[in-house]
Amino acid sequence: MDGIQELKAKYLGEIADAGDESSIEAVRLAAVGKKGEVALEMRKLGKMTPEERQVAGPKLNALKDEINSAIAARKASLADAALEERLRSEWLDVTQPSRPSQTGTIHPISQVTEEIIAIFADLGYSVAEGPQIENDFYNFDALNIPPEHPARQEFDTFYMHRDEGDNRPPHVLRTHTSPVQIRHMEKHGAPCRIIAPGRVYRSDYDQTHTPMFHQVEGLAIDKNISMANLKWTLEEFCRAFFEVDNVELKFRASHFPFTEPSAEVDIKCSWAGGQLKIGEGDDWMEILGSGMVHPKVLSAAGVDPSEYQGFAFGMGIDRLAMLKYGIPDLRAFFDSDLRWLRHYGFASLDMPNMHGGISK
Ligand code: PHE
Repeated sequence: MDGIQELKAKYLGEIADAGDESSIEAVRLAAVGKKGEVALEMRKLGKMTPEERQVAGPKLNALKDEINSAIAARKASLADAALEERLRSEWLDVTQPSRPSQTGTIHPISQVTEEIIAIFADLGYSVAEGPQIENDFYNFDALNIPPEHPARQEFDTFYMHRDEGDNRPPHVLRTHTSPVQIRHMEKHGAPCRIIAPGRVYRSDYDQTHTPMFHQVEGLAIDKNISMANLKWTLEEFCRAFFEVDNVELKFRASHFPFTEPSAEVDIKCSWAGGQLKIGEGDDWMEILGSGMVHPKVLSAAGVDPSEYQGFAFGMGIDRLAMLKYGIPDLRAFFDSDLRWLRHYGFASLDMPNMHGGISK
């Protein structure tokens, strides 16, 4: 059986030369496959004498084993080489700086709105909304401002255009968020505790007034709510919002048709050196109007004033943003100047909560 040596030399050579999986497979079939040369040799065993078979059988089996393990070894080394090649070609320099990404910033108004919502959420208030184009019933009448009332002039209202002969009730750009009080009570009744942030419109323009600005309305109605609750709530809010222990608030007796009694609230601040700071100085900035909801307003919204009462307030979100972040001119908020937005904008990770500060 010298043939065995030849077969061995031939196939071990071919295996060593095979450069990929498919050529190894071709060698395997030709050598040890069912119809391969080794199998053909094994068939011959049947025709041998027992003595011959005792010699040739083990030799053929050994050959088969040797070829199989050579194939396995070759496959493994090809796989190693392939892996090496991938590792060499697919590398990545993790120390390289990443490409600069142009991300936007959160506008101070959005940031401050979220902060206000977070604080009032902690106090048990939920958020309500209403339309920016209101009819004059919700913006005025239901709030105890009848058509001839002088307060209608004070508001510098934008009226929607009406064609001649159009008899629908007049629509306005809402001058305040107070109509949301009516809409909410009409739908959900009392008791309730809501805040309603949103855009409002008045024809007014100077350093602290723009024709479109933002308010947040607050409304708390229940069976035993008093002015003291209002005062506590606003002081608590200001402490949390401005993150200082003593903000000084001044409650000034005032008048709103929809509250009785009414108070405007000013916060102590300073404009020294053009920088706006709260909690110090000799100036006061008006930040909100408030009061006990007028019984006529409760009735107009379907709530029985002999059973329920409560307070309401309307705060200027823009004013609060100016004060908290030292922004001296309100008009710049709405100029869409990218340099301003990058300077005063917030990263999306600056999320507010009641217990930690905003990193800025
Ligand atoms: N709506 C009033 C305004 O815009 C503010 C206010 C709201 C006052 C609620 C009292 C109660 O000036």
